[in-house]
Amino acid sequence: MADSTLKSDPTRENWKRVDAWLAEVLAGDDAHLRAALAAQRAADMPEIEVAPLAGKLLGLLVRMSGARRVLEVGTLAGYSTIWLARALGDGGQVVTIEAELPHAEIARANLDRAGVGERVEILVGRGADVLPRLEGTEAFDFVFIDADKESNTIYLDWAARLGRAGTIIVVDNVVRDGEVANEKTDSAQVQGVQAGLRMLADDPRFDASALQTVGAKGWDGVAIAIVTDARAEA
Ligand code: DHB
Ligand code: MG
Repeated sequence: MADSTLKSDPTRENWKRVDAWLAEVLAGDDAHLRAALAAQRAADMPEIEVAPLAGKLLGLLVRMSGARRVLEVGTLAGYSTIWLARALGDGGQVVTIEAELPHAEIARANLDRAGVGERVEILVGRGADVLPRLEGTEAFDFVFIDADKESNTIYLDWAARLGRAGTIIVVDNVVRDGEVANEKTDSAQVQGVQAGLRMLADDPRFDASALQTVGAKGWDGVAIAIVTDARAEA
């Protein structure tokens, strides 16, 4: 009796157990993804990559949208980049931006080892500095924003400018242990997340929703948006 109650309580421990079970059943796992994470851990990089189920979801969204060109802001060690690049298949391209050169070097090795290196370009620098260099290139079909949260509005503006009507945008970490709903937060990161969500609501270039998630990475969430026809008039 006590046992069954425990098992169904939505405690942090139980979310993690369910997330691990779902990941084992659905997300799969392979030597290249494991090697990428091992290299990330060995380099003492922050353990903030997307969860396996989230990586798989990103890949599915890329496939569902028929995307050929993907932009990622925040490469880290390339774990999410591997999911995105695999989903594109031959002929697809990921441009991914990483602020820290040592991280970009680990990511380069991880992507090459995973066999997707030639479809991924890593641009090193802060997003706000690097994104303007992409102006005039072919439109991106899919954008994943997962970098410094303070800059989310800058990244969303560039996602609209570098995308087209119909471009899909996914923004990671929009719930932050529930802090997103705290209007009095003094965290610059949470304020950045809030500003990004308000921009998705108020700027006619976007239409968006958000999903809370629980699992290996605690209580967080993603916003999913589409670039609208209003982009042309913006
Ligand atoms: C942090 C950043 C992330 O992108 C993430 O998924 C989790 C945590 C962070 O900076 O704390
Ligand atoms: Mg993230």
